Amino acid sequence: MVVLADPGHVAQGGRAVVAGSGVDAREIYHAGHPKGTAYDGRVETANAAIARPQRFRVTGGARLAGDVQVTGAKNSVLKLMAAALLAPGVTTLSEVPDILDVTIMSELLRRLGCGVHRDREAATVTIDVPQKVEHRADYDLVRRMRASIAVLGPLLARTGEADVALPGGDAIGSRPLDFHIAGLLKMGATVENEHGFIVAKAKQLTGATIWLDFPSVGATENLVMAAVLADGCTEIDNAAREPEIVDLCVMLGHMGAQIEGAGTSTIVIVGVDSLRPVSHTTVADRIVAGTWAMAAAMTLGDVTVHNANPAHLEIALDKLVTAGATVDRVDDGFRVMMDRRPTAVDAVTLPFPGFPTDLLPMALALNAVASGTAMVTENVYESRFSFVNELARLGADIRTDGHHAVVRGRPLLSGAPVTTPDIRAGAGLVIAGLVAEGETIVSEIHHIDRGYPKFDEQLRVLGAKIVREDDPAAGFG
Ligand code: UD1
Repeated sequence: MVVLADPGHVAQGGRAVVAGSGVDAREIYHAGHPKGTAYDGRVETANAAIARPQRFRVTGGARLAGDVQVTGAKNSVLKLMAAALLAPGVTTLSEVPDILDVTIMSELLRRLGCGVHRDREAATVTIDVPQKVEHRADYDLVRRMRASIAVLGPLLARTGEADVALPGGDAIGSRPLDFHIAGLLKMGATVENEHGFIVAKAKQLTGATIWLDFPSVGATENLVMAAVLADGCTEIDNAAREPEIVDLCVMLGHMGAQIEGAGTSTIVIVGVDSLRPVSHTTVADRIVAGTWAMAAAMTLGDVTVHNANPAHLEIALDKLVTAGATVDRVDDGFRVMMDRRPTAVDAVTLPFPGFPTDLLPMALALNAVASGTAMVTENVYESRFSFVNELARLGADIRTDGHHAVVRGRPLLSGAPVTTPDIRAGAGLVIAGLVAEGETIVSEIHHIDRGYPKFDEQLRVLGAKIVREDDPAAGFG
């Protein structure tokens, strides 16, 4: 039986619930396990602590220089963890980033009946998937992390049913799930919306031809994971081509799935009867790598980013060259050097291989201190510009109109208290703080901890002045 969390005990939505990346699920949730229940070899405490909200105090003016190591991609590892559900037995993932979202996905998998063991030192997660998996993913976890929806496809394929709470997630747009649902319907599932849950059922999914209106990353992943155990052949057209999709398909291929076309707009999957568990190394996080690249250029720095694939960031790195940076390949990544104020550079976000929407806040921050005026266009999320007001608090001159932003660069920003609404905006605000005169205090940094492992530690190694501290201004309500 799945032990559900007691909603009355779960920390309030919108509140910071953890202090940093070094927490485990016991510190977040009051899962309704009896006190002292053995749980993945550890003891679950009945009264989990709610960590205090924290903030970053950034002192502007530092030049970033040195070496930084990127770990596995958040946007890949969460889907790889979900994919483990497709095969009974022990799946081992390496290069697992030390971020809160991995903690949340681990807890979700435990509630589905899996044993999950995370070794932070080794950056691995082992997932022991039982023969019989539960099929319900509850709101208290799903609302904290939209990527929880990635269990929908695998659960349906493995168990014939999936009840997944409708997610919340970052405050960057309405982010519907219609493509996921339409695809599953085409594969023969029934899908209802019941009491805040997507309830999907299919005794046996059948292969189908599916056309996505937009190359949605999440829908492509869910439908691939549903199709690998379906009866017959599934073709997904206008599929997303992100490196994280390729990573997932590589892992599924090693598990015994038959998939062709990953990384192109047409993915063809021939269903198989069963899959086997494997060991897999998570693809490097191109968004974290791109964030370091932008930060190096903005601070007139010299940063070598290791474990990064420049082919995954071609347009973003090319923009930096246009802005005046020198970008060189090194054995396992790239080096970004900048010796003068950046020149303003236009950017248009698009699905891969376009400029990534997740780097839009960094593009705005870079242009905010560039010489000249740039037009930055967002094509993926309608609310991605919502944090522009925070950037404006730092003195950035940005006008938005629909999905366009006009940024007029100024030599220096001006430190101020700001609040981050999501992961990527948070990283953008921190690096904007590096080029602001005086102190910038970034609140609600639990968002940043969801996606950037040891962000402040790595920034300090590169020479930034940044301190993590408790946020006395934030109450628990
Ligand atoms: C993933 C990434 C996120 C990134 C995004 C786009 C994870 C955990 N998150 O999010 O960091 O910004 O890809 O690269 O991997 N849409 C629909 N209907 C659907 C599905 C999506 O209209 O059924 C829309 C969304 O509202 C959005 C766009 O399609 O406007 C792209 O969404 P999608 O590619 O699905 O993003 P996610 O997978 O949620």
